[in-house]
Amino acid sequence: MSFPIHRPRRLRRSPALREMVRETTLAPSDFIYPLFVVEGRDIRRPIGSMPGVFNLSLEHAVAEAKQAKALGVPAVLLFGIPDHKDAQGSQAYAREGIVQRAVREIKNAIPDMLVIVDVCLCEYTDHGHCGVIEGGHVANDATLPLLAQMAVTCAQAGADVIAPSDMMDGRVAAIRSALDEVKLTEVPILSYAAKYASGFYGPFREAAQSTPQFGDRRTHQMDPGNVREALKEVDLDLEEGADMIMVKPALSYLDVIHRVRERVDVPVVAYNVSAEYSMVKAAAQNGWIDGDRLMLEILTSIKRAGSDLIITYHSLEAAKLLG
Ligand code: PBG
Repeated sequence: MSFPIHRPRRLRRSPALREMVRETTLAPSDFIYPLFVVEGRDIRRPIGSMPGVFNLSLEHAVAEAKQAKALGVPAVLLFGIPDHKDAQGSQAYAREGIVQRAVREIKNAIPDMLVIVDVCLCEYTDHGHCGVIEGGHVANDATLPLLAQMAVTCAQAGADVIAPSDMMDGRVAAIRSALDEVKLTEVPILSYAAKYASGFYGPFREAAQSTPQFGDRRTHQMDPGNVREALKEVDLDLEEGADMIMVKPALSYLDVIHRVRERVDVPVVAYNVSAEYSMVKAAAQNGWIDGDRLMLEILTSIKRAGSDLIITYHSLEAAKLLG
């Protein structure tokens, strides 16, 4: 009788052994929690396609951020949804805009909660595009100063990190120099460097009321078939001064996360986007999957692929489970 020499099963025999040799572990400190802030008072409006996610007025956003902090989640990512939208997205860079006020209130209430602001015009424009429109197209260079102004007003309100998600060319450099001009040299930029034109953002657009009124985002967001182009975007953003790099979406782009991780030495962040969340919730509600188990497996896979941090709507429930 001959016996196998190698028995990988030996290290799988008990939960304690498995835990001891586990290569990738999750912790609440891995997560960044997105919040959708709206004007008005006492609003906690559920997003139909994202069970457990809400449009929140300021005091509810502060309460939610407090809960995140108490669970060990270090940061929130803010999206502002103004009552008044116009062609220029003027509420994006208004000193008293909804997102600027949210930054101030959260930093006042919880000074050590990190506040990251998503910088893009799509939640603020009446046409739902990420920049200003000229001749029926999103105009790159005319959009840059507006994004820079949004970054400056948010940083002046106390934002800890600026996260441009618009995918205009040259926006990291434009934001960096605008921040530096007003002596905000210490405010870091987390760039959505490799952001794909993805169907996985559908539920977000319900939450942020930012569906484009015509056309789509394929002239600025990346084609899902490309990975070399993602590396080029990452290189350009780092050259322009980005401090951290994001890949988005996460689940269908684990190879991109992995390639970016191998290439750069800055923190890599992945965005576990809205439809990735909604699919888990919908299947769990139908009793087709074990929602908690899939959630943790998905988050583990994103980290295993190479991301240091994960932006996820699951932040609170995952942090609770990881305790
Ligand atoms: C743009 C932005 C979007 C998301 C994050 N920032 C929408 C888009 O690009 O259309 C999507 C996030 C998600 O789906 O969870 N401000």
